[in-house]
Amino acid sequence: MSSSVSIFYTIFMLLSLALLLIFTCEVKAKICDSPSRTWSGPCIRDSVCNTTCIDAEYSNYGACGGYGFDCICFFKC
Ligand SMILES: *[C@@H]1O[C@H](CO)[C@@H](O)[C@H](O)[C@H]1NC(C)=O
Repeated sequence: MSSSVSIFYTIFMLLSLALLLIFTCEVKAKICDSPSRTWSGPCIRDSVCNTTCIDAEYSNYGACGGYGFDCICFFKC
């Protein structure tokens, strides 16, 4: 009886660990940003940068930001 309880407890601990790992991975798989390689000039309009990132760099979306007026593309990573 007590051994079946400890097996149940072990399985429960392993499941908790697995869940923890899954959540950790999901947190890691968030959006990464990188300055656009194809962008030149100041980034004034988010929509233009967004379109450039999506069309030219297969990015999820883009927005103005970073240092100065860079166009930053956002990727899933
Ligand atoms: C970027 O452009 C796409 C496609 O036009 C649009 O669906 C998306 O909402 C835009 N995202 C931002 C942050 O402007």
